Amino acid sequence: MKPLMSSLVVPVIALALAAQAQADPGAGAALFNDQGCMECHYTEGPSKEKTIDDQLAKTGPELWYAGSKFQMPWLVAWLQDPQPIRPLKYNSINEPNPENHPALGPQEAADIADFLMGLTSDVVETGVIEPKKKDRKARLLFAKDQPCGACHQYPAKRKVKGGLSGPSLVGASARLNPDWIYAYLLRPEVFKPIKMMPVFRNVLSEEQMRQIAAYVAAFK
Ligand code: HEC
Ligand code: HEC
Repeated sequence: MKPLMSSLVVPVIALALAAQAQADPGAGAALFNDQGCMECHYTEGPSKEKTIDDQLAKTGPELWYAGSKFQMPWLVAWLQDPQPIRPLKYNSINEPNPENHPALGPQEAADIADFLMGLTSDVVETGVIEPKKKDRKARLLFAKDQPCGACHQYPAKRKVKGGLSGPSLVGASARLNPDWIYAYLLRPEVFKPIKMMPVFRNVLSEEQMRQIAAYVAAFK
């Protein structure tokens, strides 16, 4: 078995490396500072916000658990072509997203993504949530029983539905780590001590949170 395995694995790794610029997390950490990213994002946990004023003073989302929240291919692509995630400007409830996030070249994006993917939270248990697309119970919970859709855009038969006050969940299947979605619903205080989203811990059972997380994790 051994020789067969390695003869397969080596070309696969070689292909993966050839497909993207070779990443260097050390270089990524330095670039993160050089490019001014740290002016709007902090990368050291735990979450720092203690008051609403602390939250309102932030000019970009915290990234200290980026490696638990995002998926690497999405991150590398987004840093080069940052499309709006929140329909509204960060921390605003009425101004539109200015759509002016700085964009990086391929090498810088690969290096910074590598650095960011190394920033994780040990609260996020891995391998718990499997994305599940067709789940009628979860769909009811998300779109009818609970107000998720009132604040979040989500994909519905060939169109986008939902409210604008939260980050869009369209494309969550490529962007978010399914296990992080569940961890966030279960323990929002770890990630967002100052909450702009209702807490569902005493509203939904853990089983229902897992169902919703799996459902959101399948959004195209
Ligand atoms: C002037 C402030 C500012 C600077 C500088 C900035 N960002 Fe951002 N960043 C934001 C805002 C605001 C958002 C939210 C964008 C949205 O929702 O569309 C964001 C979103 C992100 C996200 C997605 C986070 C999430 O939770 O959705 C990543 C990753 C990111 N930025 C990385 C970077 C990197 C890397 C740099 C440096 C090249 C950088 N940012 C520079 C303000 C900034
Ligand atoms: C009252 C509005 C509101 C409701 C209702 C709501 N959310 Fe949110 N949600 C938000 C806001 C605002 C954020 C951004 C969190 C922050 O920055 O504090 C968010 C963040 C999220 C995120 C992380 C997205 C990202 O890219 O950072 C997920 C996933 C999510 N919500 C899922 C849900 C689910 C599932 C429900 C229903 C059980 C729900 N939300 C109900 C407003 C809401």
